[in-house]
Amino acid sequence: MITLEWTNEGVRMVDQRLLPVEELYPVFATYEDVAEAIRVMVVRGAPAIGVAAAMGIALGVRDSRATDLGALEQDFDTICQVIGATRPTAVNLFWAIERMKNRFAELRRAGVSAGEIREALVAEAQAMHTEDIEINRQMGRNGADLIPDGATVLTHCNAGALATAGYGTALGVIRAAVEQGKKIEVFADETRPFLQGARLTAWELMKDNIPVTLITDNMAGHFMKKGRITCAIVGADRIAGNGDTANKIGTYMVASLAARHNLPFYVAAPISTLDLSLASGEQIPIEDRTPDEVTHIGGKRIAPEGVRVANPAFDVTPNELVTAIITERGVARPNYTQSLRALVTKAQTS
Ligand code: MRU
Repeated sequence: MITLEWTNEGVRMVDQRLLPVEELYPVFATYEDVAEAIRVMVVRGAPAIGVAAAMGIALGVRDSRATDLGALEQDFDTICQVIGATRPTAVNLFWAIERMKNRFAELRRAGVSAGEIREALVAEAQAMHTEDIEINRQMGRNGADLIPDGATVLTHCNAGALATAGYGTALGVIRAAVEQGKKIEVFADETRPFLQGARLTAWELMKDNIPVTLITDNMAGHFMKKGRITCAIVGADRIAGNGDTANKIGTYMVASLAARHNLPFYVAAPISTLDLSLASGEQIPIEDRTPDEVTHIGGKRIAPEGVRVANPAFDVTPNELVTAIITERGVARPNYTQSLRALVTKAQTS
């Protein structure tokens, strides 16, 4: 399963809008095309958006017609700005842009040629791809112990291989538990309106032969009440300094239901999803998407023409509903203001 990869012709990505009906891998040959692919959700999921952004920047710089360093830097700034204007919530996008900017600045200071900068930025984006898979595997190992043998795990949206460079965050933890020999079952919320659970999570778990039951979002409470669910695990798009977690719309509902039924609610996310510059989730920008996603399913209208629609793509789960945050650097528990900071410091020093 390839989510995205660098090729000499451009960035090759599976078109996630078409899954599971069609499995197509178009190549996006310009940075503008990559930006548009992020915006329309050919590629989605916070870590995958980050890697796609880095590859888009590398592509734009590689193909820039600039002949001198000053002009290349100007092009670089424009490219970063275009890529940065695609989706506002997943902080991995801005983390990736920042990392590419730091690399560019480092190369400028080193006094290398425009050609060397072009090569180095391509290498940086490729390294981010490789690192993301390693990070997910480590996150999986760190989180697997939290999932007991025989567990039925509820997940929301898609935080799997398709949302990352590979392996997944929440689904990575599930995969690691399965690799430990545990018998695990997954309940996947369909995740209206974009249906990441029905289209993507169900598809990738079935490919891996991990037992999965698809439910509509409004069934989660019923199955928790019936004692069918052991715990819930989701990914994240941005985690504030106090542990408040932005994730796919409906996550807050799952976390509230889990608390009501005394079930653990876990978040799995890389350190790059932490935004310690924000004191609380109140400050996380929430993306509003087109009403068409709500009024239509599979291109077919299901609501009256002209109806007023709200379509926030994410919600924020307050930290008190989060049992633990699983990262590649370890598992954070409340008080998150302290535990997340400790993990980030660890990340910087090791
Ligand atoms: O709108 P999307 O599909 O990009 O939203 C994805 C999610 O909310 C995921 O749960 C999150 O990005 C974590 S992915 C490892």
